Amino acid sequence: MRAVVDWLEKNRRLQSSLTLRPIGFIATHKRVKFQALHQPAEAQSERNVLELLPELGYQQALRDLAGFSRVWLLWWFHRNTSWRPLVLPPRGPAQRRGVFATRSPHRPNPLGLTSVQLLGIEGRRLLLGPCDLVDGTPIFDIKPYIAAYDAFPEAAGGWTEEVDASLIGPPKFTVQFAALATTQAEWLLANWEIEFRPRLIELLAIDPSPHRTRRIRRHGAAMFSIGCGGWRAIFSVTGETVDVLALEPGYPLRFLNNPDYKDLPDCEAQLACWERWPEELR
Ligand SMILES: C[S@@+](CC[C@H](N)C(=O)[O-])C[C@H]1O[C@@H](n2cnc3c(N)ncnc32)[C@H](O)[C@@H]1O
Repeated sequence: MRAVVDWLEKNRRLQSSLTLRPIGFIATHKRVKFQALHQPAEAQSERNVLELLPELGYQQALRDLAGFSRVWLLWWFHRNTSWRPLVLPPRGPAQRRGVFATRSPHRPNPLGLTSVQLLGIEGRRLLLGPCDLVDGTPIFDIKPYIAAYDAFPEAAGGWTEEVDASLIGPPKFTVQFAALATTQAEWLLANWEIEFRPRLIELLAIDPSPHRTRRIRRHGAAMFSIGCGGWRAIFSVTGETVDVLALEPGYPLRFLNNPDYKDLPDCEAQLACWERWPEELR
């Protein structure tokens, strides 16, 4: 105990702050957290690029990495502002877990850890496979993934094993889009390159019941809403069918028209959406 007290005394500065500097930033196609999977899905064909900062010797530091087919990324959940000791994981029953028993972004030190495929290296740019990071995430470190040290397939998976077992098999719910929701989704894609249908369908097909982390709430007497990044989808559930009825901007006009909030996600598209469907969105 004495040794611990001495160490803490000597390293007092470490207790309050520790400075880390990003080595680079990743470019992914996920502009909002809603679009990012909870962990990377290998089956997806997406390509992401990590560009290291120039003039710091980082390019030289990549020497010998090309022979590895996977790397670990250590990164910062930069879109987070808070942490909680107990969190509600998005998958499985609505049950709070200790944050250290989860991969939740809401951690005291918001550090992310992701293993990704390394597809190529061009100068300071790493071409990477599927990942769960949003666009612009700061990266602190890269390490080679070494199966002999890093893979323990038979290790116990705690509470996640139960959840995984409950999700085996085809999704329970069928998700369909009403005419208005289809028109709106197509309008968003054609005019603003905004597309969140695949992720929306995936989430609702598993479980459309109200859940804080999945951002599913009751909406009036017979409907529900789910947050999809800066947007919202309104849906109803009948038996095992989910009907997506409409898509809505996530922000009211008084915010979107306020110059103090000009950085709200998809601000221009949301204003245009209010203008295009004034009656339906009232
Ligand atoms: C469940 S966490 C797991 C991250 C990492 N694989 C880990 O285990 O540390 C993945 C989620 O973090 C969120 N996310 C991704 N990039 C983020 C960022 N830069 N800031 C905050 N949240 C982010 C997305 O919602 C994504 O689905």
